Amino acid sequence: MNLKKISPIMETYSRFDVSMSFGKGCWLFDEKGNKYLDALSGIAVNTLGHCHPKLTAALSEQMKQLVHTSNLYKIPLQEKLAYKLTKISSLNYAFFCNSGLEANEAAIKIARKHGQKLGYSKPKIIVFEKSFHGRSIATISASANPLIKKGFEPLLDGFIRIPLNKIEKFNELSKSQQEISAVFLETIQGEGGINIPQEKYLLALREICTKNNWLLILDEVQCGIGRTGKWFAYQWENIKPDVVPLAKGLGSGIPIGAVLTNETSGKLMGPGSHGTTFGGNPFAMRAGIETLKIIEEENLMENAIARGKQILESLNNAFCKNKEIVEIRGCGLMIGIELKKPCKEIARIALEKGLLINVTESNVIRLLPPLIISKDEVEILTKRLIPVIKEFI
Ligand SMILES: Cc1ncc(COP(=O)(O)O)c(C=O)c1O
Repeated sequence: MNLKKISPIMETYSRFDVSMSFGKGCWLFDEKGNKYLDALSGIAVNTLGHCHPKLTAALSEQMKQLVHTSNLYKIPLQEKLAYKLTKISSLNYAFFCNSGLEANEAAIKIARKHGQKLGYSKPKIIVFEKSFHGRSIATISASANPLIKKGFEPLLDGFIRIPLNKIEKFNELSKSQQEISAVFLETIQGEGGINIPQEKYLLALREICTKNNWLLILDEVQCGIGRTGKWFAYQWENIKPDVVPLAKGLGSGIPIGAVLTNETSGKLMGPGSHGTTFGGNPFAMRAGIETLKIIEEENLMENAIARGKQILESLNNAFCKNKEIVEIRGCGLMIGIELKKPCKEIARIALEKGLLINVTESNVIRLLPPLIISKDEVEILTKRLIPVIKEFI
């Protein structure tokens, strides 16, 4: 008789055989007492690390006061977070939801409304190779990776896919009268391998979108909320998008999503056009408000820039002449190390050495440490990571 207990968890992930028991700052501790430096932040989520005392205190207080009321009533904490987000993004409206894919769904719906308003019966959205926007039917349709689409057909129509950084593609599209209503991309691609658009590319996109009356939608789910050293990665290019989906780092671990819009795009959605039961509840709003407050109080964006530079410098010194490394690239604390060969295994080897990292696109090592990571912790990170990579390649 097989006495092995079968897990009732649906196997949508292949997980490491490790369970974390508690966390403190940039460190996680498993059930056996092993200690790990978290250089991944639960995939760009734990902005403030684990159990930040100020966040924990605020959320404990909120938990005792009010958690959920539904959107049938006014929620002052929603207004408060919306004011802050619109101020730091230079946008005008916020809609709150619970995750990145939901923020992107809302953005896609806004793009459709915009197209319908322009009189298009089948409005199209331009999307990009190597993009990732989530796991709903609409967002897998917008995403590039064929593996996440397989078996879920029929997918959603209305996406035109082009390569990143090829500006001439836009000129062709704008002439071909395809009822385009929006251009939708991650300001920095995360799952696609930390791909940073060439300088001035976003600026050129902004101009093309304005000229053609296409919405510029910049998915900042992974790269937003201070991760690159600015509130939003598009601020490095000094541009203003029309629609910005957010999630991940905004709640520092509490599920939250938001879509920010400019004046006209926000007005496309009226009462009854969109909604969510949990979205914008007082508990999640408090997590967002406190996260943004602590980022400012503790100068975490400055820290992201300094620590990002420190990591890139160490990696470049260690691998500058190594032909097995294709490229080391990053912006703030969003860093990719592209290897010539597939390297999924590196995440497991690093875990065994007490370091949490991740591999994406099969050959890009991804680092997304909490924004609170210190100089000394970065030293530990690179001292653990460099030998792992050297041994692997
Ligand atoms: C850029 C981007 N957009 C959207 C998503 C989807 O977010 P979620 O997993 O919260 O639905 C992700 C998740 O990795 C992401 O990186």
